[in-house]
Amino acid sequence: MMTSRPDVAVIGGGVVGLAVAWRCAQRGLDVHVYHDELPGTASAVAPGMLAPVSEADFPDPALLKFAHDARVGWPAFAAELAEASGIDLGYNAGGLLLVAHADEDRSRLAAMYGFRDGYDVPCTRLDAAELRAREPMLSAESVGGGFATEDHHVDAQRVRQALRVAGEALGVRYITRRVTSLDEVTAGSVLVAAGAWSPTLHDWPGTPVQGQVVLLRDPSGGPGLRHGIRGVVGGEPVFLAGRDGSRTIVAATVDHTGFDARPSARATDSLLRKAITLVPALAGHEVIETRVGLRPDTPDHLPIMGRVPDRPGVYVSTGHYRHGVLLAPVAAELMTTLMVTGADGVPAAFTPQRFRSAKEGASR
Ligand code: GLY
Repeated sequence: MMTSRPDVAVIGGGVVGLAVAWRCAQRGLDVHVYHDELPGTASAVAPGMLAPVSEADFPDPALLKFAHDARVGWPAFAAELAEASGIDLGYNAGGLLLVAHADEDRSRLAAMYGFRDGYDVPCTRLDAAELRAREPMLSAESVGGGFATEDHHVDAQRVRQALRVAGEALGVRYITRRVTSLDEVTAGSVLVAAGAWSPTLHDWPGTPVQGQVVLLRDPSGGPGLRHGIRGVVGGEPVFLAGRDGSRTIVAATVDHTGFDARPSARATDSLLRKAITLVPALAGHEVIETRVGLRPDTPDHLPIMGRVPDRPGVYVSTGHYRHGVLLAPVAAELMTTLMVTGADGVPAAFTPQRFRSAKEGASR
């Protein structure tokens, strides 16, 4: 039965908030989700990389382990969500190709390998001929790279749609409203999962980091890329993945431009230049969309998850930065357990308290 004071209110309708709402509803709780689709909502743009180590630009052990465990749990989560929603998530477990375009790009790629080796994640080195055997659309100029069997990708926009459908089927109520103060929401437990906007609701530090993607369509209808590709061109990374046969997503820039969610010609140029260098056939594809998402970053690039100090009944799960889609299932599991049972399985490194301690130390 729907109540005016639900058991749980989730502020934020991105993948993290929706995954928590679904999990809570599965436990029989009344759940309200407050969401206003502002330009830059990260889940509306995310390319859906489930690639814990090739995506890690900073070797924090707590995050690497968390991300690795999250990836391991994804196939079961995807199967359960697809079944519950009846939506095909575009889950691709075919592995990710790591591609250095030129000799100068090998060292950046080698850094990715280094993380992998430490975490026992299978990654096979491939020479240029082996790369092209796996992905015939790759440029003949690519010098080498690797194949990460354990890195997957998914259509993040379909995941979000599926989470909403699955939640609604269990009675989750979606309220289109921007929440600007925690005092506006009354519930047994309140979860802040508002992505880049989370710091506007409390005094956590956070920065929106712009990521632009370009969506292409092959006018001939395919066949499209066999694998996701994490490429390095001119020392800069780019991600390519096929969608629905004829479409290709090219992602993602990293720019510090505040809450500006407007696509720029510079970012489009940078993405397309790298994409066409790696996969020359993309030059003949149609540009169908450019989108900008605002990733929620934190000073140490680690998530902020747990109980909110001095706010009984208020919780937070944000700061997932480049890993929101990857981490959503495991974040949902931990946050739901914490809110429902009080058992706190969130890694200590992610506590909201860490910023308060730093502030208190500085003011002493
Ligand atoms: N995970 C994709 C990105 O943030 O760039």
